[in-house]
Amino acid sequence: MKQAVAATTQQDTPFDPAPYIAAVREITGAFAVARGHAPRVFVLTFGCQQNVADSEKLSGMALDMGYEPADGAEEADLILVNTCAIREHAEDKALSVIGQYKHLKDKNPALVIGVCGCMAAEEHRRAQLKKSYPYVSFVLVTSALHRLPQYLSETLTRQKRIFRADDEMTVAENVPVVRGSSYRAWVSIMYGCNNFCSYCIVPYVRGRERSREPAAVIEEVRGLVAAGYRDITLLGQNVNSYRRGAADGYEFADLLADLDRIEGDFLLRFMTSHPKDATRRLVDVMAAGRHIAHAFHLPLQSGSDRILAAMNRHYDRAKYLDILGYMRQKMPDIAVTSDVIVGFPGETEQDFEDTLSLLETARFDMIYSFIFSPRKGTPAERMPDPVPRAVQNDRFDRLLALQNDIAAGQNAPLVGRAVRVLSDGVSKNDPAFYAGRNEQNKIVFFKEPVPAGTFVNVSIDRAEAFALWGTVKEER
Ligand code: SAH
Ligand code: SF4
Ligand code: F3S
Repeated sequence: MKQAVAATTQQDTPFDPAPYIAAVREITGAFAVARGHAPRVFVLTFGCQQNVADSEKLSGMALDMGYEPADGAEEADLILVNTCAIREHAEDKALSVIGQYKHLKDKNPALVIGVCGCMAAEEHRRAQLKKSYPYVSFVLVTSALHRLPQYLSETLTRQKRIFRADDEMTVAENVPVVRGSSYRAWVSIMYGCNNFCSYCIVPYVRGRERSREPAAVIEEVRGLVAAGYRDITLLGQNVNSYRRGAADGYEFADLLADLDRIEGDFLLRFMTSHPKDATRRLVDVMAAGRHIAHAFHLPLQSGSDRILAAMNRHYDRAKYLDILGYMRQKMPDIAVTSDVIVGFPGETEQDFEDTLSLLETARFDMIYSFIFSPRKGTPAERMPDPVPRAVQNDRFDRLLALQNDIAAGQNAPLVGRAVRVLSDGVSKNDPAFYAGRNEQNKIVFFKEPVPAGTFVNVSIDRAEAFALWGTVKEER
């Protein structure tokens, strides 16, 4: 954790955290006097980049209230577990970690444990946490993230456990944030999702779409560029529907074009796009941009029209391939990545082969693949013809094998070419190398020591499906 920067201005949230912040500061201040150091906060994050961005705000609010960062859960006085509910495995992992914290609470009865994020928004999980995890002090749903000061002050002053879901649908601005990096930044531009894909829990746990005002986003990004950030990713479950229905017609492509006008040496990315809403105009703005990375994450989910309809995705193969073709035509160097679900209820061998054939046509640079996981309360949970586990596993393996070949084929032509890379410093996987990412977000390894946050040109010597290796030519 590095810098504390106040995030942006504005908006109509009637909630005023000031009295709660003051109350908590009094308690953390007294703690610091008694112990000789401030109480410590540990934030553990599961799930997607939205959660990573939310955790930066949880940390920001805690530090603002007088906590200091803990190196691990063992030394923390406040633990916030930011959970994910997207698949069963994600929930199991979070519950298992929360279970392990029981012994910390036994050792330190004053320890406060809060469960935040998407799992906290599921009623049955709140009931389970309340009943079976008596050492959990509160749950905090994502739409009430900015109420952390209130929850904490109620917990600390009244020893009250809180298991309600304050899910008012506002956009809270002015929440302090502690960014995890001094050169890569996440900027949420909208929250929630309206799409109700039949397998997905997100619309239930994150609520309906609401967008931040363009001026607030532009001010935040401008501040980040001025502070030296080099790689900025705009976040939303479906950024293509940013400000959908707004009277002035200002939409995502307009925001991207406005952000691209900011002067400086930086890359602009965005996640995630929905194929039904990705427009040619957006592609045109990207192609004409100065800072917009030629990288596009466009989740496919399935290559079978029948399954896409059952998933409630509102596009078919032809539409997907149309927008993909337009991207490749306008930006031949673009890297396109995707998400695929295998083993959706009713998926036949033919449906699955349709997915394989689409992969061969689309030639993605990378995919995230998932085995279908039934989510409580979603339409797909009750759909007939579940695919047997062994068949799901077999399809998953075949999908990965094909995609590995495709990705290797996509990367091979880069050998002998120079790519611009933003260094992340010494590689975490192999300390003999430095690592970074290029504009297409591919991982590049090199031997020369290049400080994190610096752009360099790397000549590629070797390419594999998941990474590139090369030699630094010059610093830029
Ligand atoms: N909003 C993003 C996706 C968020 S979830 C989008 O629409 O692109 C990330 C990915 O998890 C999804 O794209 C999907 O491939 C996968 N996923 C979501 N629900 C799932 C489920 N119930 N089982 C398996 N994979 C799922
Ligand atoms: Fe889930 Fe679909 Fe919304 Fe993505 S677009 S978050 S997959 S409901
Ligand atoms: Fe998980 Fe919530 Fe993200 S369910 S994937 S953390 S939106």
